[in-house]
Amino acid sequence: MSYYDGMLAWRENAGAPVLPTRNLLGHSPEFNRDPMATMLRARHECGDLVRLRFGPFWFHLLSDPAEAYGVLVEKHKNYSKRTPGYDMLRMVLGDGLVTSEGELWRRQRRIAQPAFRKKEISALTDVMSEAADDLARTWQRSARLGSSIDVASEMARVTLRIAGETLFGLDLSDDSVDVSRALTRMLGGFSKLITTPFPIMAALPTPSNVQLKRAIVDLDKIVHQIIAEHRRQPSAKPTLLGMLIDARDEDGKGMSDKQLRDEVLTILLAGHETTANALTWTFYVLSKHPAERRRLEAEIDAVLAGRPATMADIANLPFTAQVIKESMRLYPPVWTVARRCEEEDQLCGYRIPAGGLVLTSPYVLHRHPDIWDNPEGFDPDRFAPDRPAPPRGAYMPFIVGPRKCIGEHFAMSEAVIVLATLLGRFRLDLVPGHKVEPDPSITLRPKNGIMVKVLERN
Ligand code: HEM
Repeated sequence: MSYYDGMLAWRENAGAPVLPTRNLLGHSPEFNRDPMATMLRARHECGDLVRLRFGPFWFHLLSDPAEAYGVLVEKHKNYSKRTPGYDMLRMVLGDGLVTSEGELWRRQRRIAQPAFRKKEISALTDVMSEAADDLARTWQRSARLGSSIDVASEMARVTLRIAGETLFGLDLSDDSVDVSRALTRMLGGFSKLITTPFPIMAALPTPSNVQLKRAIVDLDKIVHQIIAEHRRQPSAKPTLLGMLIDARDEDGKGMSDKQLRDEVLTILLAGHETTANALTWTFYVLSKHPAERRRLEAEIDAVLAGRPATMADIANLPFTAQVIKESMRLYPPVWTVARRCEEEDQLCGYRIPAGGLVLTSPYVLHRHPDIWDNPEGFDPDRFAPDRPAPPRGAYMPFIVGPRKCIGEHFAMSEAVIVLATLLGRFRLDLVPGHKVEPDPSITLRPKNGIMVKVLERN
């Protein structure tokens, strides 16, 4: 079977309904203009399994929570990551945890898992409190000057600093650090590439591909140097890289330098932009919902009284975690998850051909009208401990099943610590007239950032 079999539009599979379109290119113009609205329209007009055409290729959009759970958990072996998007990601990240599969992935996950346990993450959370506290100091200056800030770039900087310091003890938010410059160039080239559905584009010598390849070569060199230094002289503070270097499989074998390189880049990419977006959208929804913001401030003030949050405070900040979960329901940083159906299957009563692409979208599932009351409304009490958990597959910002995010506990600890530290001292008001729009790129971020005025609370 060729790579494209099962995706090709001229191989009729008499499958799920097709979203009506008169455009010869299929749904790609509409999807490129507004993917969220297109997916919501597709579910609304055609149901929980609908086909969308991108030029010559079909995608199946699956929005039934139980079937999505089936694909990611019960039938996960039949749904691989051999998709155009993951193939492009593999060119950058190699065979790290996000992109590898089969025995290689199982072994890497087994070796890496202990580094992401609660106890190990606790040892890294001082960095999170320090970074949030330092950011609070710069916000104090902005507040006193009355200047506006872009909360999206502020969150990108603080999460990059936390990722760099917890991974290998380096502050990557400092632009003078070589790895930061190479990373920025690499991300710039990659976000251009990932928006095309054709893997062949990556092989063409376009200026942005040439720039991407050079950035990868530079990044490789720097990351290999950092690994060699860590092996020679482990850092005094605990780091994820140190934990990964020390980790051993049952056979006593650790990771090779190539494997460490792939995991370091994977964690850097998977860990920082996602958490930055979760925090950014949380500040945004709070600025639109003053009653919930005041309730959150009351919880934070009672626990922190103006000091930075630490790991020990997290258990006493349950409403803070509920607010973050509800904001990730409305704005899930990973907004779609693609899989390739390896052997013919049935979903929602329709045939999925071998090789067919199946897209599930946390953004759509999190708004399914059969599951959520007032799906567009912001209500953190949906996640209150006395409320029943959402049905399986209905809420999954970190997805479910064996490929679930390994960094969920890291991300939630970081988000609670950063949000509580900053909201304990500041209120953010949207700058009037600034238009906030989701920009679904690699992750769901706000187009043009989110401009706010910072006000000191006390
Ligand atoms: C709010 C923040 C985050 C969100 C929403 C998020 C979401 C996700 C999702 C949806 C996946 C599955 C992707 C797929 O299989 O197609 C994933 C995988 C992964 N994430 Fe996260 N993530 C977050 C933060 C982090 C952090 C902080 C780290 C590391 C420090 C991390 C590391 C990873 C890794 C290594 C994988 C691959 C796991 C595997 O397949 O074994 N993530 N994440």
